[in-house]
Amino acid sequence: MQLNLTGKTAIVTGGSAGIGLACAQALYAEGVSVLIAARNEERLAQGLAAIADHAPESSARALSVSADVSTAEGVEGAVNRALSTWGHVDILINNAGSAPSGDFYSLGDDAYHGAWDLKLLGYMRMVRALAPQMKARREGRIVNIVGAAAHNPTPTFLAGGTANAAIINFTKGISQDLAPYGVRINAISPGPVNTERARQLARQEAAAQGISVEEASARRIASVPLSRMAEADEIADMALFLVSDRAASITGAEVLIDGGTTASV
Ligand SMILES: NC(=O)c1ccc[n+]([C@@H]2O[C@H](COP(=O)([O-])OP(=O)(O)OC[C@H]3O[C@@H](n4cnc5c(N)ncnc54)[C@H](OP(=O)(O)O)[C@@H]3O)[C@@H](O)[C@H]2O)c1
Repeated sequence: MQLNLTGKTAIVTGGSAGIGLACAQALYAEGVSVLIAARNEERLAQGLAAIADHAPESSARALSVSADVSTAEGVEGAVNRALSTWGHVDILINNAGSAPSGDFYSLGDDAYHGAWDLKLLGYMRMVRALAPQMKARREGRIVNIVGAAAHNPTPTFLAGGTANAAIINFTKGISQDLAPYGVRINAISPGPVNTERARQLARQEAAAQGISVEEASARRIASVPLSRMAEADEIADMALFLVSDRAASITGAEVLIDGGTTASV
């Protein structure tokens, strides 16, 4: 499938690991210059090496910026670095997220503020910072990595679930503002994906439910009709499709990659 992405520029938040890294690798392999934004410098350096290793022949450039995108300053730093390097950004993958699992009565306000600042406000701030130049150039494609917990609430994942539900609302709402300018925004909502975050969530779920980590992981997979965890590459493949011209008529949509978990109409 021809994606025609060569020469474009992208920011991937949380691009140093997991789903974000897989998205950055996939974009770079298609000839897209990519800026990955995350906090830990060492993981960013490892991420850049993994991106270059993945596609040694790519004509693109990969760079990183250490930024906490749960803050307005972090978002500004990442966006300014990309704009000062390339002059414009064609593609945004909003992906950084780390909401904790935990018993509702034990988690304090900090857990909720942390989840909403990073995922909901972080995604909104990135769009607010990048959309004006996308609209002016009539060129922009945005993917929000959300999560099937938006549709499948559980009492031990309410910080992440509420943030995800709000991002779906945001994605659909802002898509109508962007569409007249040819700028598209879509959401991908994964179920369990085989990343470090999934292992961390299993540890937190185990503690919240008083079961072993192995049992928590097994229950999570058993709850998926297809009885499997997705790999990060599967999410990246869909992101690549959505930011390509192959998806030219798709905006304000949510694609579930959850193994059949969300059965609502
Ligand atoms: N894995 C799953 O099962 C699953 C399921 C549904 C939805 N999701 C969603 O998919 C997204 C990616 O998850 P993942 O599994 O790939 O996570 P991951 O493996 O833990 O990677 C998270 C990435 O985000 C970065 N990050 C975390 N906090 C950040 C902050 N404040 N500012 C900037 N970067 C930050 C991390 O780097 P630093 O820590 O160095 O900053 C890392 O690069 C998240 O939004 C998550 O909610 C994941």
